[in-house]
Amino acid sequence: MKKPDTLISQEDIEARVNELAAQISADYADKGELVLIGVLKGAFIFLADLSRRLTIPRHIEFIAVSSYQHGSVPSGAVRLVMDVRASIEGRHVLIIEDIVDTGHTLHYLMDMLKSRNPASIKTCVLLHKEHMTEVDVDIDYLGFTIGDEWVVGYGLDYAEKDRTLPYIGIIEPDD
Ligand code: PRP
Repeated sequence: MKKPDTLISQEDIEARVNELAAQISADYADKGELVLIGVLKGAFIFLADLSRRLTIPRHIEFIAVSSYQHGSVPSGAVRLVMDVRASIEGRHVLIIEDIVDTGHTLHYLMDMLKSRNPASIKTCVLLHKEHMTEVDVDIDYLGFTIGDEWVVGYGLDYAEKDRTLPYIGIIEPDD
């Protein structure tokens, strides 16, 4: 099986993650501990790299959601599969996502987590397929804007394949 073509190289990801970490560290300096919530599974590598480059106190949490399907087509409805363990009330929260496609996942998470009264809640997203967006979501820290290619690697999969590829690759779904 051929290796996916490169869309974003390992070096470019690393440089952008460093920039995002520096920006977040500056923005949250003197605000106390930042709660990072990684959205499983796709965000696990991005969260691991980003969190290790922050220079501020941080607390790591994970959350998992699933999209309801009508046959093979996502319906836009999202359900919670695994919640965070900690209370976020009165705390500064940053949601970490690998990709925003239609926007439904992040929209659902923002609504749900805002209702728990955090001190603030923002989003950090590695990839945004902006032309695919169906619901508007605020992305406060963005890695890269991409087209509507099918992307894998750095946490993203196609049918669970290629998640641990060190770069963002493009595949044809029947590769
Ligand atoms: C992906 C990605 C986001 C979501 C974005 O998750 O990690 O959570 O889709 O899509 P949306 O903007 O259209 O809602 P996926 O369902 O592939 O699960 P995974 O992260 O476990 O692979």
